[in-house]
Amino acid sequence: MKPKLVIGNWKMNKSFEEADDLIIEISEHLEGLTLQTGVVLCPPFLYLELTTDHAEENEFSAGAQNCSEYSNGAYTGEISAEMMSEIGVEFCIVGHSERRKYFAETNQMIANKVDQLLKYGLIPVVCCGEQLEDRQKMNHFQVVETQIKESIFHLTKEQFETIVIAYEPVWAIGTGETATPQQAEEMHQYIRQIIEKKYGTETAYATYILYGGSCNAQNALELFSQQNVDGGLIGGASLKANEFVSIIEAAETVLKDN
Ligand code: PGA
Repeated sequence: MKPKLVIGNWKMNKSFEEADDLIIEISEHLEGLTLQTGVVLCPPFLYLELTTDHAEENEFSAGAQNCSEYSNGAYTGEISAEMMSEIGVEFCIVGHSERRKYFAETNQMIANKVDQLLKYGLIPVVCCGEQLEDRQKMNHFQVVETQIKESIFHLTKEQFETIVIAYEPVWAIGTGETATPQQAEEMHQYIRQIIEKKYGTETAYATYILYGGSCNAQNALELFSQQNVDGGLIGGASLKANEFVSIIEAAETVLKDN
């Protein structure tokens, strides 16, 4: 089993002071530990520099929650991948279901954002996941496959090897209803198979496929123990230092036991 990756998605939460406190608290918890698990904090844009400043001395990296699909120019309100790379941001979530739903993001826009991020050396964390009705109609594999094909299968094998995928069933996000470890494993295995068909076995096994959707300190151990679950994209539970650190500890435990 490869080391896990745990990413905290803070969404649009925390004041500046609260963000600073949370970063400091997480840093204190992680101090002195030699972690094998990769840890990434994705705060709102305004707190990214604060995070990259702390990241330099700590066991975590900074990630953004979105980026522009354009390089630069007259795009009022947008923030480019290049700007983020200049301040030391290493990761960026793209295609989160909230962006698909509230900001009408399409697979094509997500593909453009991925291209921007790769151009400036950031690691895209590309989200996919079905709605509840897709699962009820037994259409979930097809929906996720289409999202993946249309947003990242234009990449070369070399480019593909630098990206992270996050499977987040929409019905599990922020609802407290987690996918069972079996449901997560089944989808992760499916995703790995389609990657294998396109890019080969080695790339498929090296690709990080994270689970997201009400993952917390109670269920992380079981979810991360699944063969094809390489870590988690954590929303609500990443807003409390204790809880987030427990999830990181679960990732470490799974690695030690395997
Ligand atoms: P949640 O969110 O952990 O609060 O369900 C996960 C996400 O949206 O990335």
